[in-house]
Amino acid sequence: MMNICVVGAGYVGLTTSAALAEFGHDVQCVDIEQSKIEMLNQGLIPIYEPGLEELIQRNVQNGNLHFSFDVNEGIKNNQIILIAVGTPPKEDGSSDLGYVHNVLELILSTIQDYKIVITKSTVPPGTNEWIHQRFLDEGIDEKLFDIVSNPEFLREGAALWDIFHPNKIVFGTKTKRPIKVLKKLYQRGRTPLIFTSLTGAEMIKYASNAFLATKISFANETARICDAYNVEYPDVAQGLGTDPRIGRDFLNAGLGFGGSCLPKDLRSLKYSAQRKNVDTRLLDAVLEINNSQVDLYLRKLNTFLPDLTDKKITVWGVTFKPNTDDLRFSPAIALINELINKGAHVHTYDPVVQLQLPGICCHADQYESVTDSDALIIATEWEQFHNSNWAEVKSGMSGSIILDARNCLEAEIIRKNGLIYLGVGKQ
Ligand code: UGA
Repeated sequence: MMNICVVGAGYVGLTTSAALAEFGHDVQCVDIEQSKIEMLNQGLIPIYEPGLEELIQRNVQNGNLHFSFDVNEGIKNNQIILIAVGTPPKEDGSSDLGYVHNVLELILSTIQDYKIVITKSTVPPGTNEWIHQRFLDEGIDEKLFDIVSNPEFLREGAALWDIFHPNKIVFGTKTKRPIKVLKKLYQRGRTPLIFTSLTGAEMIKYASNAFLATKISFANETARICDAYNVEYPDVAQGLGTDPRIGRDFLNAGLGFGGSCLPKDLRSLKYSAQRKNVDTRLLDAVLEINNSQVDLYLRKLNTFLPDLTDKKITVWGVTFKPNTDDLRFSPAIALINELINKGAHVHTYDPVVQLQLPGICCHADQYESVTDSDALIIATEWEQFHNSNWAEVKSGMSGSIILDARNCLEAEIIRKNGLIYLGVGKQ
């Protein structure tokens, strides 16, 4: 059992805290946001993540997990400090490390005995080396600290599964000293541990997200070609995916990738590369394809509705993917904004988010949202949309266009109900 302070009660910090507590460690999760901590102390969680609330409640009850807004105390009282604060994107694409710096300053101002400082936040290549140097520059004896880079690979919406079944655990270290402790941190079963340099670990994180994004843009470009030749892209994805060298995951074509990680990390990696004069034409193309997906789907809609002025368009699903309430960089929101720009009256329904945006009308009922609509767009592939009552949808709408922007519906069923099915790379 180890004493661990997790700084940051966001997606990563909360999930990691709960998992470490479940492994039997004594975990203190701290955050400067007092209201968030108060909520957590009442047994409520500030985010939507299936299963997380129960896991947190269980570990609070058994005494393994504590929440506090006294970040200083948390840092002082624990030997292992795990930094899981946000690193949001700046205007120029680089990562804002302000929150990480704040935590470091607190550690530097209180350090008296040996600490292992683990960076879980996604930070650009070179950051952990810089942190190590910062400690030395402050005159902290090298015997008093170890800096570790331990990037996180969990997905929102599937965070618990990912944290308990990781396909790898990556540790970047400067020396061998912290390795014994790190090996005991996670209950890893057969999960491979990858030990590398501090910057090596940071690069594994960026390269992973860049590769996943590349797969998605590859899928989207391939779906465009399939569309031009009337080929079912899902069949192609299945065929491609059976080759273990390729794999089926992340080959779903649609509105493109969003969220707080893939778009941000790609831009940050690009920024880091350019700082060292490294050409990034592949990353550029990946982003460019992604940025043009909304327009592609709108052009598809235009084939039936050339002028969207005063048309009533319903959008189902507003989050950046299913099973989350996260709207950050959601392609669905980008689509909604474009529809508004083109003069459409936009109505939305989402299973967990009541979208408050100027110029849209948000509904709490899936079927009510399509009343008198000219077209319905599926922008996020929530399971419940797949099983919709299409007869009811048809009788409520005034038009009959269903634009499946996530390739998640069965075209045949849509047509059987007298509706028109539109997709890219799906007939
Ligand atoms: C992503 C990575 O998958 C995680 O491994 C990583 O830890 C995380 O970023 C992070 O850096 O923190 P996440 O952003 O939660 O996780 O979501 P993903 O499941 O990766 O989906 C990202 C976007 O890609 C979504 O908008 C999703 O709709 C889209 N996507 C995904 C596709 O368009 N097609 C696919 O086949 C898969």
